[in-house]
Amino acid sequence: MIQLIPSLEEGSKAPLYLQLYQYIRDEIVSGRIKENTRLPSVRNLSAYLEISRTPVADCYELLLAEGYVTSKPRSGFYVASFNEHLSVTHETNTALIKDTPQSNILDFHYDKTDLVHFPYKKWNKLNNACLTPENLQLLQSGDLQGMPGLRREIASYLHQMRGVRCEPEQIIIGAGTYHSLGLLFQLFKDEVAVVATEEAVNVGVKGIFDQLSSISFCPLALEKDGISIDELYQSKAQAVYVTPSHQFPFGMTLPMEKRRRLLQWAKEQQAYIIENDYDGEFRYNSRPLPSLQSLDEHEKVIYIGTFSRVLTPHIRISYLVLPQPLLEHFQRKKHGYNQLSSPILQMTLQLFMESQDFAGHIRKMRSLYQRKYEILLHSIKSVFEQNAEIIGQGSGLHVLLKVKNNMSEEQLVLTAEHAGVKVYPTSVYWLNPKKAMTSTVLIGFGSLSEDEIQTGIAKLGEAWGMTGK
Ligand SMILES: Cc1ncc(COP(=O)(O)O)c(C=O)c1O
Repeated sequence: MIQLIPSLEEGSKAPLYLQLYQYIRDEIVSGRIKENTRLPSVRNLSAYLEISRTPVADCYELLLAEGYVTSKPRSGFYVASFNEHLSVTHETNTALIKDTPQSNILDFHYDKTDLVHFPYKKWNKLNNACLTPENLQLLQSGDLQGMPGLRREIASYLHQMRGVRCEPEQIIIGAGTYHSLGLLFQLFKDEVAVVATEEAVNVGVKGIFDQLSSISFCPLALEKDGISIDELYQSKAQAVYVTPSHQFPFGMTLPMEKRRRLLQWAKEQQAYIIENDYDGEFRYNSRPLPSLQSLDEHEKVIYIGTFSRVLTPHIRISYLVLPQPLLEHFQRKKHGYNQLSSPILQMTLQLFMESQDFAGHIRKMRSLYQRKYEILLHSIKSVFEQNAEIIGQGSGLHVLLKVKNNMSEEQLVLTAEHAGVKVYPTSVYWLNPKKAMTSTVLIGFGSLSEDEIQTGIAKLGEAWGMTGK
């Protein structure tokens, strides 16, 4: 076994896996561990260091995600060749982003993803491969439901990742969640007059609700574990809108017991459940619960998802999974709809999903985002101590921060901006703004680097009077 002698501190603020990762990464970068060297197995290294296997496995996962090592099936982890891995992916993307003029504002936006690790070379290659003389039909408007090949890939991906049971024929590709939701509400409008909804929702979703004059929306209280089922029964709604994996914006997960009660309600009331699973891929430190669609025995759940989080929002590809009765409805009325998603992007995505790289990309992003998330939490706790409450932990790309310094939400946002940091108000998410939480802002972390997250939180601490507490 190669000699690894990290000095790991059990009580340190940095978790063990991160200390180990930093040590091995430095050994690789400095050339002390040579290319193609086999790293010790997780079991051997954990026994040698006298720590549990989890930090070693997490450290290897991160080295893999960052391109410092490669994994060979049934053989183990090997140090990557520098030229191949580090320079091609990480550094080229970093350089690309650095060359692009950036403002100095540190933007904690929730809808931006990490671009440094976006596989743009691979994506470009696949994109260029789409438009060939045999494929010129991609320049016409394509299949109304979206490209069949992409729908096949999505059906299999959803089955593996979220347990969703559907045929490709049940999938309708859209140009983003709001487009998909708009289409769904058009489908509904003759049979659904009242839609119950979580009382706080994403602004784009709220915008869709506001545009629909034929449907009234009934906000349901959000309890600690998601929507109130008692209020749902009182609402007399024919459908309900929920984000059960990771409530937007509060971040709670609907527990199994409530999932079952929700499905029971839909069965009894002959009503629909709209399940928006916008970032179900990113769950940290615990296993995701099965999607509502996977538990549904009565064709009541409409499942909506997007590629905005796993790839980037600018790809603008989302999907609806329709239960059979609504699918028939769609097919009867189809001339009223358009397919707004670009066929070339759909095909690029299909090719990307067919390659091994898509699954690898998700694994890589999960471990990267988990690391950013831990750094964010750690920075907030050390800067704010007892003076702020973090709401909505454990998944996704954002948290809410309730700040206890007597500033209003508006003051928090403005003083942060003055200090060069953008954070976002949360009162805008409430259907009834009078119920909004006070002094609470939303902090997204997907697109910022680890250093930027730490600097941004330190600047917020100063702007919000946390220095010299
Ligand atoms: C609740 C919710 N749904 C969907 C999305 C993504 O929307 P789109 O697919 O239009 O990019 C977001 C983005 O943040 C969101 O918060």
